Order: sequence, then structure tokens, then C-alpha cells
Amino acid sequence: MTTQLASAKETLNRKGYLDIDLDPSMDLIEEINKLKKEKNAILLAHYYQDSEIQDIADYIGDSLGLSQQAASTDADMIVFAGVHFMAETAKMLSPSKKVLLPDLKAGCSLADSCPPHLFKKFKEKYPDHVVISYINCTAELKTLTDICCTSTNAQHVVESVPKDQGIIFAPDKNLGAYLKKQTGRDNMVLWNGACMVHEIFSHEKITKLMMRHPDAKFIAHPECEAHILDKADFIASTSGLVKYTEENEATKFIVATESGILHEMEKRSPNKTFIPAPPNNTCACNDCPHMKRNTLEKLYLCLKYELPEIILEDWVIEKGVKSINRMLEISKKAGL
Ligand code: 13P
Ligand code: SF4
Repeated sequence: MTTQLASAKETLNRKGYLDIDLDPSMDLIEEINKLKKEKNAILLAHYYQDSEIQDIADYIGDSLGLSQQAASTDADMIVFAGVHFMAETAKMLSPSKKVLLPDLKAGCSLADSCPPHLFKKFKEKYPDHVVISYINCTAELKTLTDICCTSTNAQHVVESVPKDQGIIFAPDKNLGAYLKKQTGRDNMVLWNGACMVHEIFSHEKITKLMMRHPDAKFIAHPECEAHILDKADFIASTSGLVKYTEENEATKFIVATESGILHEMEKRSPNKTFIPAPPNNTCACNDCPHMKRNTLEKLYLCLKYELPEIILEDWVIEKGVKSINRMLEISKKAGL
């Protein structure tokens, strides 16, 4: 194992994770639970993770809930079963803790769609505008941001800014357009970014599915395009969608977001039917390839060897965390 570990460490940056062969008979869940206890580690997981990861997490939630947990935990170590920007956010909120991400290549197409050097130039065109960034962005982008937001608190964050004040919203043009419509803020300029999972839903296939299931509610995440959102009975963040399916009297739902969320919906409402909204391609799944890079094997290795770890420069943490803290304050005031 020692030579294997040495070579795995050498190739960590290229591969993004520790690639070490494991005994296939090992009970990974038992070992992960043991390591969590031994190291006083907390496992935070997003709703888009594989169901087996969600089932062993200490907390499962949306981006806001995960940030709140990262900010308040008394664990010594945070293991993030999510994507890179989420683990970076946890590190910014808890800089003295060790933050681990099972696979450093678990990125995000939205975060990638807004390179900080290009955003800086864009921002220079609107010197008097307040910058609101969706939390799905890099740590460096957060240093160029006044207030962060998630899909749960975005409307509250936009409404916290005076009505006559210009706003730059980055990086998600779909969430931005939705917010413009909800708040009537015409003085909001949008960065042209999008999520690869939420941009591929097929209007035509969804229409046919709705006709086949007239009793089903069609629910969607605001990262979807406007023509999809226009058809929706309900629009919300992942936690909002889960809650809606639990509380609404309908027994059938067509769900336009990443497919990992169906696990929590089915767990909370075992007698209801959940149909993933069909995408515009031949693949029938709505998996996020970044979220799905995390596996139980990678989780075990990352906890055991405490690698890969999220490391950020001090100036990035000090400057970037201000935009996250402003978001958390607004959320607290709004009771979120
Ligand atoms: P929320 O869970 O905050 O709704 O975000 C969805 C998402 O795309 C996370 O990557
Ligand atoms: Fe990023 Fe979209 Fe994947 Fe969420 S679902 S992590 S926004 S690519």
C-alpha cells in the first residue's frame, strides 16, 4: 500500500483523486463510518449525489443548507460530497478546518462558464452596479462579488438591494432571467453562463409527458431555461422542490432537475411517483457528470488519507467570504 500511496499522491493532481486499489470485499460504509468517528469528521452531501452517498451523510441539503452547516459545525474535518465550489465555500466559511473533496475534478459547468479574468473586464463596464453571484462560482469570482446567493435565497438577496440600484448577476443567465421576471428589476445585467444539466430539457418531450400524465405536477429548478420554467406548476431550489413534493396533495410529479434528487423525494414520499423530465438527447438520465464523480471508494480513500484537500490563498478567503457572509445574514433575516 505504501508504494501505491506514494504513486497515487504523485498523480493526484492529474487524476483529481487518490487512485488506489481496494479490497473488493471491504465494507466501505462501515469503514467510512469508523473513520468519520475517529477523525471527528462531518460528511456533507448535496441532493444530487448518488443515493448510497446520501444515505451515509450526516447532512443532506441544498447549497444554502450545506453552507450553513459548514459555517456552524464543530467537527474538525469537513468531507464534502458535492462539487468543487461547494467545498471551497465550506473552506472559506471554516478556514481553520480541514476540508476534503473526494475528487478535485468534480467541477461545475456554471462555475466554469465565468472565468474571473473575463468577469473582471465585464464588471468594469458597469462600475456603479452591485455584483450578485450565484454560489455556483469559483472562490476567486466570489472575491469580485458583493453578495452571493443560492436558488433558495436569490429573490431575498436581489430585493435587499435598493430598487434603483443597477445589479450585475452572474454566472447563471437562466436563474438571472427568472429573478428579473420575479422582481421586475430591469436594471439587472446578466452574465451569459448556464448549467449543462438544466439546459438540456426537451420542451417537446416534456409536453408529451404532461399530456400522458395529466394528473402529474410539473416542477422545475430555476436553472432551467425560460421556456421550460413557463410550463412549470412550481419552481424552486432543490430543498424547495423536495418539500413541495412532500407537502402537495398530488401523487405524481415530473421533475426537471438533476436525477439524484429523486432519492430524497422517494424516501420522504414512498407512495408517490416521480418521473424525471426528459432531456433533449438520446440519454434518458439527467445526471450531473461532476456530481457523479464522487463514489464510496473515493470517499473512503479521501477520509483515510485526508486527501485531496481544498487549499485556498488567505486573501481569497478573507475577501471572498464577505460575499458569503452577507448572503447568510440576509437568509437569517428572512428566516431561511
Ligand atoms: P440548490 O441545491 O441550491 O438548489 O442548487 C442546485 C445546484 O445546481 C447545485 O449545483
Ligand atoms: Fe454545476 Fe449544474 Fe452540476 Fe449543479 S448540476 S454542479 S450547476 S453542472
